[in-house]
Amino acid sequence: MGLSVDRITINGGKPLLGRIELKGAKNLVTKAMVASVLGETPSVLKDVPNISDVRIVRGLLEVHGVRVVEGVEEGELIFDPSNVESAHFADIDAHAGSSRIPILFCGPLLHRLGEAFIPDLGGCRIGDRPIDFHLEVLRKFGAVVEKLPSGIRMSAPNGLRGAKVELPYPSVGATEQVLLTAVRAEGITELKGAAIEPEIMDLINILQKMGAIITVDTDRVIRIEGVERLEGYTHRALFDRNEAASWASAALATDGDIFVGGARQSEMLTFLNVFRKVGGQFEIHDDGIRFWHPGTPLNPVFIETDVHPGFMTDWQQPLVVALTQAQGVSIVHETVYEQRFGFVDALIDMGAEIQVHKDCLGGQACRFGQRNFNHSAVIVGPRKLHGADIEVPDLRGGFSHLIAALSAEGPSTVSNVGIIARGYENFIGKLQQLGADFVLEG
Ligand code: EPU
Repeated sequence: MGLSVDRITINGGKPLLGRIELKGAKNLVTKAMVASVLGETPSVLKDVPNISDVRIVRGLLEVHGVRVVEGVEEGELIFDPSNVESAHFADIDAHAGSSRIPILFCGPLLHRLGEAFIPDLGGCRIGDRPIDFHLEVLRKFGAVVEKLPSGIRMSAPNGLRGAKVELPYPSVGATEQVLLTAVRAEGITELKGAAIEPEIMDLINILQKMGAIITVDTDRVIRIEGVERLEGYTHRALFDRNEAASWASAALATDGDIFVGGARQSEMLTFLNVFRKVGGQFEIHDDGIRFWHPGTPLNPVFIETDVHPGFMTDWQQPLVVALTQAQGVSIVHETVYEQRFGFVDALIDMGAEIQVHKDCLGGQACRFGQRNFNHSAVIVGPRKLHGADIEVPDLRGGFSHLIAALSAEGPSTVSNVGIIARGYENFIGKLQQLGADFVLEG
């Protein structure tokens, strides 16, 4: 499942043309795998992508005694949780990598075993702040949280009880934490300020298949009635909207035409509106969405990233590459993550004109205004991109660098591309299918 290739030399300037197929969403599949721990019987998950984040969660399940085997269909995994057991800090740490998923094992493991551990992955990777909502939620359910030198130990000496929870921000992970914990807690849980991303709705679908009782109101309130027993599930994962938006942006940036098999309109409404405003063309089909460049100049846009149903933060980076080719000034105000514009430095080296600002530009003030975060970008286009040597910083930023190299004139060497395999299944094969001109290096 890993990617042995570390570096790609791309001869850019050729449109990407052809068809690719999506599998299930990384940000649903990994949580669905954790949910299997809650069942008394095996679960079957279909359309699991072959990406390294899935391998990490599989490893974490296996160190906790869950048997994982491949099913008959390609992309099908079967999880048997009948022998769930405690794992050692060291084993969890070794399998966790830089993933945040271990925190989501806490509720299910507290129900199954009465205890759970999260390794201390180091201040930069998992400090107290990025999991503060999670720890607060678990405490509300009655978990005892102990900080040890080697990590965090949790126990539930009196079991877990339903709670009234209000999140300070509609966090995806913290909402999933509440769901995965409340379904088997005693009594009723009321969650206010919940995230309602389609991946969360699909996790709710899975939990309902397992026997959970969950109501979703229209005002970010989710109510869960705890039940005593859950069964395994059989489920086909929701398609990966982030991958779909990435290839759509690649079509736009390279003057290309890409049919993204498996993409659906309803979960992508907000992206499609912005894509159309930029001038991108699309056609909705029963089996996917075709995205292509109009052949005329692109338009600049103003985008503010937000929680669902807003414009997702993960869509921002690939689209910024296409916006370097729009005629005029675009503004992107990032309100979900405070540090998500590091990737633009490489684009600037390639000839893009982009400035980043600490102010909340263009829209409303967000929680990062008046603080020291470069979270607004001004993109002036069109600017011709030329090839460069780039080192991939993170998953979405890395895919954006690939797109930039594919649309630039002349050769680019993109290194550290293994990171992209965390979330994009077989992206090298897909680039080949779309006619990209590149050479792989070990
Ligand atoms: N936050 C806190 N404390 C917490 C939890 C979150 O301050 O305890 C803050 C974060 O620092 C961030 C904001 O809340 O500023 C939103 O974070 P959220 O919890 O919603 O994000 P997440 O669950 O960690 C998931 C996806 C991300 C995606 C975000 C937003 C997974 C594995 N990751 O992260 O996906 O950007 O939701 O939709 O589901 C990606 O796929 O590349 C990716 C980063």
